[in-house]
Amino acid sequence: MKKVNSQNFKKTLSKFSTGITVIATNKNSELFGKTINSFSSLSLSPPLVLFSLDVKSSKLKIFRNTKYISINVLSKKQKFISDNFAQKKPDWKDIDYQLLRNGIPIIKNCISNLECKIQDKIKKGDHIIFICKVFKVKFNDKLKPLIYFNSKYT
Ligand SMILES: Cc1cc2nc3c(=O)[nH]c(=O)nc-3n(C[C@H](O)[C@H](O)[C@H](O)COP(=O)(O)O)c2cc1C
Repeated sequence: MKKVNSQNFKKTLSKFSTGITVIATNKNSELFGKTINSFSSLSLSPPLVLFSLDVKSSKLKIFRNTKYISINVLSKKQKFISDNFAQKKPDWKDIDYQLLRNGIPIIKNCISNLECKIQDKIKKGDHIIFICKVFKVKFNDKLKPLIYFNSKYT
């Protein structure tokens, strides 16, 4: 075992494979989305999930001040969506989405979508953990997931 530093910590964490999600919300009719792989299930009863946001994110204020979000789990064919929402100024123009009744966008053709209400925000280190109650879900059994491993899509 080696003493942890930021380089070997990052590299070690990159050996944990994750799916890729886009969290999305709407503020005053403007849509916001961000690529996230810190998504995790938290509780079955009540149904809770979590993700964390870098305190340096330019979208932190938006997600801190919104109540409702969607979490869109990307399929293998949606790498371009992950790339798009990993930019500071993503573009919704080539994204196939629909607006829910509360105005929250959900991305179409995802492997799954979760409609959530943010319940708690906890600052730990340089990230803020968002705990979300899930109230609607949708999934597709036929699609394959987009996987991120070793800092690359597989
Ligand atoms: C595969 C992947 C996973 C990411 N996961 C997270 C995450 O869990 N939390 C986070 O804050 N940023 C994450 N990011 C970074 C953001 O997507 C990206 O840096 C950000 O959207 C840039 O703009 P911002 O400063 O407006 O947030 C991830 C990026 C990639 C490519």
